[in-house]
This record gives sequence, structure tokens and C-alpha cells, in this order.
Amino acid sequence: MLVVEQLVKEYGDLTAVDDVSFEARAGTVFGLLGPNGAGKSTTINCISGLLTPTAGRIAVSGHDVIKDGTAARRSLGIVPQELALYEDLPAVDNLRYWGKAYGLRGTALEDRVATVLELIGLADRAKDLPKEFSGGMKRRLNFGCGVVHQPKVLLLDEPTVGVDPQSRAKLFDLVETERNSGACVLYTTHYMEEAERLCDSLAIIDHGKIIAQGTVAELKAQLGARDALQLNGQFPDSATSEAIEGLREDIADLEILSQAEDSLLLTLSAASHHLPKIFAAISGAGGNVTETSLRSPNLETLFLLLTGKELRE
Ligand SMILES: Nc1ncnc2c1ncn2[C@@H]1O[C@H](COP(=O)(O)OP(=O)(O)O)[C@@H](O)[C@H]1O
Ligand SMILES: [Mg+2]
Repeated sequence: MLVVEQLVKEYGDLTAVDDVSFEARAGTVFGLLGPNGAGKSTTINCISGLLTPTAGRIAVSGHDVIKDGTAARRSLGIVPQELALYEDLPAVDNLRYWGKAYGLRGTALEDRVATVLELIGLADRAKDLPKEFSGGMKRRLNFGCGVVHQPKVLLLDEPTVGVDPQSRAKLFDLVETERNSGACVLYTTHYMEEAERLCDSLAIIDHGKIIAQGTVAELKAQLGARDALQLNGQFPDSATSEAIEGLREDIADLEILSQAEDSLLLTLSAASHHLPKIFAAISGAGGNVTETSLRSPNLETLFLLLTGKELRE
């Protein structure tokens, strides 16, 4: 339904998107997970036709976005990262505007606008102006504008940034509704929890490059049976890392994911079994552990392991 092949986008010397390829199927949510500046919006804007790629090929519903842009855009719904609302136009008229832009007229338009108002939970605020809305309400209306024409491929660019928990839950429901009705949804986010919760498959992107791709289960499997071990306390800089490196003869898959003066995040298999050795190494390096927590690895752990930095830096 959506095919991106070897997409490259350069801004002068900067390669914002660097050889990105993925395919997303109908009735699924495909995620692009990455920190700020990773190239998510640039990818979305190349798909929507807002930006012209430097190289590569993109097809939406079988239509090439460059050679056959008009047909490609007919299948697309776009919910941009920056709100695209007419603040002084009632909510219902914002929806009508986008419906008309995609060719809906008459009762088909009115019926669909009414349905969308219900869906996004704004039926009782239809005549009110977006400028009086909360951030979450604006996000929901922004979403509604992207789906009035029932697109086959829906592009969602960080749709939950700056919204309250209730609107966030509502937006998740809306994404699932679109997927269940057969749409192909491309969902970008820098929130690992959202990707894990919503996406059938995803690509992790950093500095314009895909560094891992697959289903959530496949990506977690890249971590093997490893646990994430969070230690708090005091960790003298190089002495601690040397001491931990020294344990690798014993604990083959031990790695330091992040290290600060007062915290240390490690990944290894059967962590609880190795705790005494780790504590001994740390105190041998002049440090000490005041708090220990063990958790199953998640996508954040994988991102740390692959890039050496946190998603939200
Ligand atoms: N119009 C532009 N001109 C120059 N550089 C840009 C422009 N838009 C984005 N960039 C740069 O491209 C990179 C990717 O940006 P973007 O796609 O917005 O990332 P994301 O959406 O993942 O946060 C960043 O380094 C950003 O600063
Ligand atoms: Mg962005």
C-alpha cells in the first residue's frame, strides 16, 4: 500500500534522510520511531509530495508520488506535526473544507463530517472555533481533517505531542479505528511506549538512517534473552567502565548502555544470577550501588544498545 525505496533527502550538506526503505501494508500501523531530528517529518513530507526527494522512489496505492502525484495524493490523508487548522473557522467548517478539497460534496460530505465529529469526540463543539480549544481538542480536530475523505494511506506525524492523557487515549483509539477499517497507517513518534503499543511493525530511525526494522517482537528478539539492569549509586567514571569490561570474560553479553556519575544501565542475560559479581566489581572500582532495578528490555533498550544514546535526548 505504501512503498518507500532508497529514499534520500538532502538539505545542502545535510543528509536528512539517508537511504530509507520500508513497506507498509493495508490494515496495519507502521511506525517510524526516532529522536528529534532523525528525519521522520522529512520522510513524511516526501511521501505527501510537500518535499521533492533527492533520490529514491515512493509509491502510494501503486501510484508513484513524483510521476503520478495527483493519483497518489488522492489516496493519502495527512495529519501534520504542525497543526493545520483554520483557527477562526468553526470545527465543522474545518472538516468541510478538507472534505471538499478531496472532492466530497452534498450529503456525502455532510454525512461524513457528522461521522468524523462523533469519532473525534467533538460533536458538541462543532460550531466552536479551534482557537478556543485545548491542545488535545485541536489535535483531535487535526486528526479528523486528515481522515474526512477516508484515505487508504494515513500519514500521522507525531500526533500526540503536547496532548493531555485523555486526548492521547482518544487518538490511540482513532488510529486503531482507521487500521481496523483497512487503512495503512504510517505513525511517527519519539515515544517508545507509543510505538510498542500501536505499531504492527516499525523502523527505528536515527540521523536519517534505519538502524533496525521489524515487528516489536522481532526487534526485542535482537536483544536476545537479555535483561536491562538499572543501578543507582556512585560510579567513578573510567574505573567503573574498566571494572565492568573486565567482567565480560565471565558474562559474555554484558554491555554498558549508559553511564553517569550516579546511574549505570547495563544489559546482560540472567542478570539476577550475576548481581554479586557486578556489585563486587563496582565496589572494587571505588563505587557503590544504592538501588537496583531489573526490567525486561524494551525498544528504548534496543535504541541505547544500537546508538549509545537515549531516544529523548
Ligand atoms: N527545511 C530544512 N532545511 C534544512 N534542514 C532541515 C530542514 N528541515 C529539517 N531539517 C533538518 O533535517 C533533519 C531531519 O529533520 P526532521 O525530518 O524534521 O526530523 P524529525 O521529524 O525526525 O524530528 C534535522 O537535522 C533538521 O534540522
Ligand atoms: Mg518531525
